[in-house]
Amino acid sequence: MLKKTLISIFVSFLFAVQTGEEKGLKTEFADSFLVGTAVNLNQVNGRESGADSLMNLHFSSITAENGLKWALVHPKEHEFDFAFGDAFVAWGEKHHAYRVGHTLVWHQQTPKWVFQNEQGEPLDSASLANRMLHHIETVMGRYAGRIQAWDVVNEAFEDDGRWRKSPWFTILGEGFIEMAFRKAAQMDPKAVLIYNDYNVWKPEKRAAILEMAKSLRAKGVKIDAIGMQAHYRLDFPSLAQIEKAITDIHEAGFEVHVTELDVDVLPRPSDSDGADLNINFAASPKWNPYVEGLPQDIEEKLVKRYADLMKLFQRHKEKVKRVTFWGMHDGRSWLNNWPVRGRTNYALLFDRNKSLKPGFWTEMGRD
Ligand code: GLA
Repeated sequence: MLKKTLISIFVSFLFAVQTGEEKGLKTEFADSFLVGTAVNLNQVNGRESGADSLMNLHFSSITAENGLKWALVHPKEHEFDFAFGDAFVAWGEKHHAYRVGHTLVWHQQTPKWVFQNEQGEPLDSASLANRMLHHIETVMGRYAGRIQAWDVVNEAFEDDGRWRKSPWFTILGEGFIEMAFRKAAQMDPKAVLIYNDYNVWKPEKRAAILEMAKSLRAKGVKIDAIGMQAHYRLDFPSLAQIEKAITDIHEAGFEVHVTELDVDVLPRPSDSDGADLNINFAASPKWNPYVEGLPQDIEEKLVKRYADLMKLFQRHKEKVKRVTFWGMHDGRSWLNNWPVRGRTNYALLFDRNKSLKPGFWTEMGRD
């Protein structure tokens, strides 16, 4: 009897240690900002084992990684595919997560037909505007009230602050942004409307983005937040550069959303735009050095980098509304395939077994 009682006490003790000690990101940062993750179809469909419990413990927000991009949700002119979107919303509701739609107007992962007429020539501006408005109406309209924030326009500027010469810009001129935001506000007046881009830490780019956003607002257009994608490296950009971006966005009157956080630990071939990039690099140990595992010193650097970033975001918690990781764990990071296909990267805070990387809470001073 005594033996049985002792065993049961021991078992409950082990259980308490196991469950009680596992801190969740979403709870630990709850007084600062939402903690989000980008998710894919297998995760929202419950087909990836462990994804639900990871979500449950750590994340208070989800972003559609690919499934709401034009090519997937609207592959042909008269064909929409809402299989992902519906599952995404339902899964987010089940987890009481703040849901982010990504993205309505972008130049990538958008089919060619969008910008062409039946003869394959560039579409005239009136028809392209109609196509864009119809897309926003159909996709956003379906989820009005069920997706709380949208990346309305993604990546409209070059790093030097010039307008990106995308087909949107070339055919419609800079007015395409205003058109998109006006339509988005009409489809769901309560949704948080975001302009999202990478390298917002670059002053020229940020100035152009903020000028655009302020001028829209001055015309009465609803635009609430600037999304900083935050695809960073181990020691670049600096915390000071990131901090300046946060304070500038806030001073201009917009919420800061850290929308696509990851930290690339792999070397980057300098000609990373080269066409045949993917052919040789993945096979070479020089460019894919950690196939067998990340060396401990680099993992420590990575964990410290994440802790430094999270502390910075916390210091600006009244400005930063959300911090979203671009993927749940290393096995799902796009950086395994960019800028070189088939490498083994370690860009996230959770490893391939979905475990939090060791030392994070210690680095945060929250052990
Ligand atoms: C950009 C896009 C994301 C994603 C990443 C990496 O940051 O906004 O949707 O495609 O590139 O793939």
